[in-house]
Amino acid sequence: MSLLNAAITGVQGWVPETVLSNQDLEKMVDTNDEWIRSRTGIIERRILKGKGKATSDMAVEAVDRLLKKTNTTKEEVELVIFATVTPDKVMPDTANTLCDKLGLVNAFGYDLKAACSGFIYAITTASQFIRTGMYKKVIVVGADKMSSIIDYQDRATCIIFGDGCGAVMLEPTEENVGFQDAVLKSDGSGRQFLYIKAGGSQNPTTEESARLREQYVFQDGRPVFKAAVKGMTSTIKELLQRNNLKKEDISWLIPHQANMRIINSVADMLDFPREKVTVNIHKYGNTTAGTIPLCLWEWENQFNKGDYIVLTAFGGGFTWGSVLIKWAYDNK
Ligand code: UT7
Repeated sequence: MSLLNAAITGVQGWVPETVLSNQDLEKMVDTNDEWIRSRTGIIERRILKGKGKATSDMAVEAVDRLLKKTNTTKEEVELVIFATVTPDKVMPDTANTLCDKLGLVNAFGYDLKAACSGFIYAITTASQFIRTGMYKKVIVVGADKMSSIIDYQDRATCIIFGDGCGAVMLEPTEENVGFQDAVLKSDGSGRQFLYIKAGGSQNPTTEESARLREQYVFQDGRPVFKAAVKGMTSTIKELLQRNNLKKEDISWLIPHQANMRIINSVADMLDFPREKVTVNIHKYGNTTAGTIPLCLWEWENQFNKGDYIVLTAFGGGFTWGSVLIKWAYDNK
């Protein structure tokens, strides 16, 4: 069976209006703008405000615009894969809620949970449905309302994360563009360094766990930092090697936006020019599954058909990996 290629035919992002600046955080925890900028590169992040507002509401904004941009009717969408660690509810999946809110009446959908690697796992999964010819219109969403699981009394985590969403449309093509390859990894022994203590089946939320603030993200930053640099660098190398590509063949490197120092370390270890690395962490912080599609959205106008682009991510789990795509359209 000859496989089709799965091409990204459109990309759209959406971030909430409310800005949480480093100066705002100085009033909330013992931190300062200089420390945050120099240790992370973050200046501000966006926060989704409003009673009852959830991750799906950000996705509604992004996907509605994506449909218009790609001239897709709501009825045509067949599948939505929703990468998030901040689902609207533990059950049902946020993809189902999104489809209902937007009227994607013919689509089925499900959530995919791989923390900061969620989008690259999801786009790899979605591409297989296209490549086999099973579906023709698949939407991949990467979105997180991190403010719902962050402890704004914990300076080690609250300075890093923000809320945001990005989405792409995937469609089949017989041209040699689109998803090319992926090197994806996971290692559960890293789960002790980045996780949420309470709220799952092992340790359901109780009054006691809430008192101990265990419903929020815990991170031991240093081991995560080291593993992130190593994991992203090694999977990019493996990806290039097995596709017979040199770093000079890559037009853009799109890294997960977790820390400016991690991004620079990865680029420098690969001897990859920093000007070809997308960076918007200063504006949005770490939006978990949202970072990579938000970069695709903001750099879309600079991509040309045939450009090799590498997406790379590392996150809780541990999960990590790199994806090679060949951009499918000239900038519009
Ligand atoms: O996206 C998912 C994957 N996550 C990541 O990739 C994140 C990886 N880790 C990191 O980005 C960094 O480790 C952090 C940004 C989380 C922390 O930076 P760091 O350079 O590793 O700092 P550290 O945790 O080693 O802390 C250094 C010092 C400590 O003080 P002492 O012990 O040296 O006196 C901290 O208490 O900085 C202190 N510190 C702060 N000071 C001011 C920690 N957080 C803050 C803060 N403001 N917000």
